[in-house]
Amino acid sequence: MTTGTNARHTMTDKQFGELRKIIYTRSGIHFPDGKKYVLESRLGHRLAELELEDFDQYIAFLTMGPYQTDEFQEMFNRITINETSFFRNEPQLEIFEKEALPRIIEARRSTTKRIRIWSAACSTGEEPYTLAILLHRSLGVRLMDWHVEILGTDISEKALTTAAEARYTDYAMRTTPALVRQRYFTQDGPYWNLQPSIRSMVNFELHNLKDRLAAKRHGHWDIIFCRNVMIYFDDTMKQQVLRMFADQLADNGYLFIGHSETIRASDAPFEPLPIPQGFCYQKARLGRAAA
Ligand SMILES: C[S@@+](CC[C@H](N)C(=O)[O-])C[C@H]1O[C@@H](n2cnc3c(N)ncnc32)[C@H](O)[C@@H]1O
Repeated sequence: MTTGTNARHTMTDKQFGELRKIIYTRSGIHFPDGKKYVLESRLGHRLAELELEDFDQYIAFLTMGPYQTDEFQEMFNRITINETSFFRNEPQLEIFEKEALPRIIEARRSTTKRIRIWSAACSTGEEPYTLAILLHRSLGVRLMDWHVEILGTDISEKALTTAAEARYTDYAMRTTPALVRQRYFTQDGPYWNLQPSIRSMVNFELHNLKDRLAAKRHGHWDIIFCRNVMIYFDDTMKQQVLRMFADQLADNGYLFIGHSETIRASDAPFEPLPIPQGFCYQKARLGRAAA
């Protein structure tokens, strides 16, 4: 097989089976039968860059020797789907802004004045920045009296690098209301730069949703957003992640999931908010787990 950058590397079914097992074990991302072409095309270029002859060599490179950690990172940068946008699914964000936030603000107003929000699997940052904008809008000048923490995490280091830059193209802005664009961004040629005051409200960190211990280190969150990632997981991984979210949510904390995702099959203690299009769950008190 040739190894130039235009080389076409073919993946055998056996190689696909091995690779998807390795990927699943590390990340919970499940590549179903029929998705071989995705791995083949996304990793084919990598083989060419590394001047490897075939996927057997790549699997060896990935699993043995001193480069494996770096290569796993490189692989996740390439195989993850980072599709997102500012103000994605507005009806759901309205529930965040009009239901969840006011309740938390009311509960903390005369106590800790602390709000902690985790955007898990945040991709290139549009989701946590959207939440920061909404929080800024809700609290206004009162924001300075509050201790707000918003953390965006993802398994893709490449996506997080983009997030930290806070500089976006029209594509990222496609679902953003015009007023928000005017108020919170400055245009710079083809880019939209997010206002530094919003940028500074969000921290980013590399995190694999398989890593329960790292999640534990962060303590309890009032709100967790984890949208449009569980679709890539199988039921076992989904269950693990949902239990971890239940552990890491404060009592009465809120979990927002993607509109095409469901947590029905999980035994994690969440109760759905009775709001259509909400895709929002509240952590149930002990002994009141949702069916
Ligand atoms: C489609 S994006 C969703 C972004 C955002 N939450 C949204 O809904 O707009 C899915 C993200 O999940 C991340 N991801 C996939 N598996 C992950 C894992 N095991 N741990 C952390 N992030 C993961 C991917 O890197 C990708 O950025």
